[in-house]
Amino acid sequence: MLNFEDEGALSAVPGLAIAPVSGFMPQGAPGAQHVPTQRANDGQVPAGNAFRRIRVEDKSIINSKADVNQLVPFKYKWAWEKYLSACANHWMPQEINMSRDIALWKSADGLTEDEKRLVKRNLGFFVTADSLAANNIVLGTYRHITAPECRQYLLRQAFEEAIHTHAYQYIVESLGLDEGEVFNAYHEVSSIREKDEFLIPFIDTLTDPAFKTGTQQSDQDLLKSLIVFACIMEGLFFYVGFAQILALGRQNKMTGAAEQYQYILRDESMHCNFGIDLVNQIKMENPHLWTVQFREEIQGLFQRAVELEYRYAEDTMPRGVLGLNAPMFKEYLRYIANRRCQQIGIDVLYQGATNPFPWMSEMIDLKKERNFFETRVIEYQTGGALSWD
Ligand SMILES: [Fe+2]
Ligand SMILES: [Fe+2]
Repeated sequence: MLNFEDEGALSAVPGLAIAPVSGFMPQGAPGAQHVPTQRANDGQVPAGNAFRRIRVEDKSIINSKADVNQLVPFKYKWAWEKYLSACANHWMPQEINMSRDIALWKSADGLTEDEKRLVKRNLGFFVTADSLAANNIVLGTYRHITAPECRQYLLRQAFEEAIHTHAYQYIVESLGLDEGEVFNAYHEVSSIREKDEFLIPFIDTLTDPAFKTGTQQSDQDLLKSLIVFACIMEGLFFYVGFAQILALGRQNKMTGAAEQYQYILRDESMHCNFGIDLVNQIKMENPHLWTVQFREEIQGLFQRAVELEYRYAEDTMPRGVLGLNAPMFKEYLRYIANRRCQQIGIDVLYQGATNPFPWMSEMIDLKKERNFFETRVIEYQTGGALSWD
């Protein structure tokens, strides 16, 4: 059993390095578990190593010296609000009926070969993408964010990534697809592998046990990885895939899968918005990180990401399918990249790009009472629906 007065015992637990509450924590300690080591005794505050109550002004998104175990007093209400909204949107994959999808997939004249290729390549990206996302949060981002409200949201987000991986696995299993083929696509299909290879260095930065924030370089590295993760991975690399499956659903095909993607899109757009708020708050608290050189580097990353996602669009749609074709996605990706740049205060890259899929915006703005593909009541019931008689 751990004795909280015994610094040695806690320090021996990986990820539970402890530090005094104020003034004595090395900047950017991994794990950032700032448990005070000594309490003031009857107002006699030992110089330099004292317990005192957390004040709002002690908190910051990165490199905070305040105790991360205390959720309140709130400083970042927006993060708490997003946590509450995410919980209100709770859903589980097995609530969605897949029987029509299964019948269509197995029917000889159900889907064209191009439509089947699109579905398999699509799942080939997503079945591992959300595991990358979850690992990035749990093993990387979480350790370096020192605001408890933001950590609370990240905990919820991590669970949602698990639900998404579950949803993709559930679709693969329902359709009876070759699991080896689909789950290995991120090794074996170059248009998918290239997207992941782009992402992995940024995930590796945050998950490296030796990585510590607290210097100009490392704080910029953290900020860059957060931008890549929220604005490029969740905010751009998911969008060809989402549009494809939702386009199937709009044609009354694969409506169960489309419904799952609809909920995933809703979650992901909140992940993306949370990440953008996080980035903007870090910028506000650390304006010295936002240099011209840094902004130019971010623009270069967006340009590369648009190219990679366009290549994925071409690979998944070698011919026009479902009224979609790869060139339409060139415009869409430019439009999305511009939007992400604007959201974090970077100059837009593609002047005049417009949205060729306005219906996607409707999907993103899904309200709980709306459901495009099914008639199921999707208002999620938690404790209130249970009877304890
Ligand atoms: Fe996800
Ligand atoms: Fe996500």
